Amino acid sequence: MKNILVTGGAGFIGANFVHYMLNNYPDYKIVVIDKLTYAGNMDNLKEVADNPRYAFYQGDIADRARVEEIFDAENIDTVVNFAAESHVDRSILTPDAFIMTDVVGTYVLLEVGRQRGIERFHQVSTDEVYGTIDEGSFKEGDPLEPNSPYSAAKAGGELQVRAYNETYGMDTVVSRGSNTFGPYQYPEKVMPLFITNAIDDLPLPLYGDGKQVRDWLYVEDHASGIAHILHHGESGGIYNLGGGNERYNIDVTHQMLEHLDKPRSLITPVEDRAGHDRRYSLDCSNLHAIGWKPAYEFESALEKTVKWYVDNEWWWRPIKSGEFKDFYERQYAERLKNAGK
Ligand code: NAD
Ligand code: TYD
Repeated sequence: MKNILVTGGAGFIGANFVHYMLNNYPDYKIVVIDKLTYAGNMDNLKEVADNPRYAFYQGDIADRARVEEIFDAENIDTVVNFAAESHVDRSILTPDAFIMTDVVGTYVLLEVGRQRGIERFHQVSTDEVYGTIDEGSFKEGDPLEPNSPYSAAKAGGELQVRAYNETYGMDTVVSRGSNTFGPYQYPEKVMPLFITNAIDDLPLPLYGDGKQVRDWLYVEDHASGIAHILHHGESGGIYNLGGGNERYNIDVTHQMLEHLDKPRSLITPVEDRAGHDRRYSLDCSNLHAIGWKPAYEFESALEKTVKWYVDNEWWWRPIKSGEFKDFYERQYAERLKNAGK
């Protein structure tokens, strides 16, 4: 492993992974391909721009000619596929791009990787492919029952990865990560949305009763978990990658408000998300058995994250005044108008 193609490296987890790899693996070259959709942001990679072991290419993973060009120019031997449309609410409004990137894009990367005989293909998947679970925790062998266009598209991409391992003997690994938080997360996701809204004394649109449960994973732990699976996972292996921090949305919301010293009256219960998964929970014993554990404790990582958004308005203010405004209007205007009715 020498030249690693990181797709979607200008996004939230991808950029944190690029930082992690450059800091921890001095022998690798990290090559990013990113389409720079609304979620891709070169500010996320500013710190590494001058690193000689890093290269950036703008491109679409579903564009085969572009992918082939980058594989050949950089002699790519390993792929870590983060590139995706990643937001459930957008997948409910407009599913098209989810199929093109999360399914077709994954297939194009696999196909080019197969033809070039790469050493390993790591698919960054999600716990959402399992669907929802009321009690107990999902194990890797459990059936996939995705409920949103997003999670169904991620499951579709992931199953192509499985097929390339079974059919062509391609060396593949899959990580199913849980809800991730930390610096550089696009403020459509609940934590950065609520933190940045609260800073501006805007309402926090909490879906339904707020009693949905998510298992929170700090982004640097997500990056280290992926690096661990990339190096130590068995070929064809699928690994749950969770933080072990199951929390109700309402409780996380209260904690964020406390760190910001803002009132709970900002919380505005709104109409629930369609098909909203009630609870995610992962059994991560397979990953623990190969030697990985999260390094961050939830409460202090949350406090640190809140502080990062307080200290880095330069990063999120331009985002919230751009394309985000149209999305916010479509997603929340009606909900907020009807709140409490
Ligand atoms: P993100 O939306 O912040 O970033 C996605 C990146 O992919 C962006 O930089 C975007 O420009 C790029 N991209 C989108 N379409 C592309 C295309 N066709 N070609 C090339 N680049 C393209 O997403 P994220 O939260 O960083 O998630 C990264 C990966 O991790 C995704 O695969 C997601 O499914 C998975 N994941 C996310 C979470 C989470 O909580 N955020 C949890 C588990 C798994
Ligand atoms: P989100 O950050 O969109 O991640 P995911 O849907 O992938 O889990 O949402 C996390 C939880 O927060 C989820 O249960 C939905 C809820 N949520 C709200 O209550 N209000 C919001 O405005 C958003 C974006 C999410």
